[in-house]
Amino acid sequence: MKSIRLSDALVSDDILIVGLAKGAKADTLKIESGSVSLDEKSLLAALNDLGATGAANEITKLPGSTTRLLIFTGLGEAKKDYAHEVLRRAAGAASRALAGEKSAAIALPTTAIEQVAAVAEGMTLGAYAFDEFRGSSKAERKAPLTGATIHTKMANSAETKAAVKRAVIIGEYTKLVRDLINTPPSHLTPDSFSKQFAASVKKLGGSAAHLKVTILNEKQLRDGGYGGIYGVGQGSANPPRLLHIAYNPPKAKKKLAFIGKGITFDTGGYALKPAAGMEAMKSDMSGAAAVSAAILAIAELKLPIAIDAWAAMAENMISDNATRPSDIHTMYGGKTIEVLNPDAEGRLVMADALVKAQESKMKLDGIIDVATLTGAQVVALGTRTSAVMTNNDEFRAQFLIAADQAGEDFWPMPLPEELRASLDSTVADMANIGDRMGGMLVAGLFLKEFIPAELPWLHLDIAGPAYNEAKPHGYTPIGGTGIAFRSLLRLAEITSEK
Ligand code: BES
Ligand code: MN
Ligand code: ZN
Repeated sequence: MKSIRLSDALVSDDILIVGLAKGAKADTLKIESGSVSLDEKSLLAALNDLGATGAANEITKLPGSTTRLLIFTGLGEAKKDYAHEVLRRAAGAASRALAGEKSAAIALPTTAIEQVAAVAEGMTLGAYAFDEFRGSSKAERKAPLTGATIHTKMANSAETKAAVKRAVIIGEYTKLVRDLINTPPSHLTPDSFSKQFAASVKKLGGSAAHLKVTILNEKQLRDGGYGGIYGVGQGSANPPRLLHIAYNPPKAKKKLAFIGKGITFDTGGYALKPAAGMEAMKSDMSGAAAVSAAILAIAELKLPIAIDAWAAMAENMISDNATRPSDIHTMYGGKTIEVLNPDAEGRLVMADALVKAQESKMKLDGIIDVATLTGAQVVALGTRTSAVMTNNDEFRAQFLIAADQAGEDFWPMPLPEELRASLDSTVADMANIGDRMGGMLVAGLFLKEFIPAELPWLHLDIAGPAYNEAKPHGYTPIGGTGIAFRSLLRLAEITSEK
């Protein structure tokens, strides 16, 4: 969504979105239209006739009197004050339902800036479609809603305007993350991913925007000792890359490093995955997309914090050059790893990038890795809750605040010491798999071996939430979701304010 306007005056668009909540008494409804007043009595009668309930994700359309169309978006239980994520989702569901329309006005109860921001974000995040690869079927597809007007009493405050500008940026970069995830490996390789970000950095102004890009190619990776990224990528005709984007604004007092898993396709290698469902493994670069988009958004918002983003890019394929079970690769920094299972490739590419990131000249205040790392994450937490593991409880607490404010669901997971021994190898420093039980934690313990105890570290396993194979809901479309991007941005904002 390119434009969001703010208005404290009367409705001008021909579509008006308002909220509908479940009332305090059973089977009652409550219209929540913020600063806009409506003829509630007759509307409630019509809504009751239609069987509307006010549940989240429920969209009810009625012809309007002052507008062409009235859209009621479900808020769930009526509240004095709605949680920002309830508003974000309600706006998102309405925005999604308005594909094909040019613009709509939205009036929801908002008394705080962050509620207006949530509505704006919901509108931009819900306005998404991925139709790039449609040919003959493109004509019948409706384009996402192009513009919105948010009704609020706070329309004229500079803070509200800034929040709306930020929401549009969030929408644009989330679209970039989702597009990259949805793009199949026929059209997205480690090289094309890296080049696309190099081009984006140039467009943002490059060094004038305090941004710098470096891309290591397969030869540089091999000669430079990046045995994780090189070893995973060596079986593919699309060679691996290590993309580094640095953002160094002049007044930065703090620095964070973001590391993303960028497997453009994960066949499992010689631990070949079953054909059924393998197509979802085009999403195995979701972490790389999230961290690379996050640094661009941070630069565009000119946040006073230094960031290093690293995207460890490879394609995990089968060929006469591919890694065999029992092969030993030397990670960047010198640790040797026996590859017992070529499908546990994410931790190998991440190990190289995690170690490389620590060469930062400016001291790192934290390092955060983002990866669609384990099927065990999906088993443990499902498809809408991501995991966060850490060596630093305080850093995790900060992150969880950021994630909550961003409206992304993360849950803390432990790194039990007793599982570490299962990663011991009989021939190398470590094996790439350990106990199957607690597989998400074992993967976290593997990565922990590459982090010194004094460096605050977060490991985000987003395997389930990165890619939505079920139905769309709230502002979340089918396919790539963009998870982790907003939490990283929010964490950078919070960290830069301190
Ligand atoms: N990319 C997968 C993890 C994954 C699974 C992401 C499902 C999204 C949805 C990862 O590379 C993988 O294959 N992990 C293995 C590790 C195992 C061999 C220790 C897994 O989880 O099965
Ligand atoms: Mn794998
Ligand atoms: Zn993978």
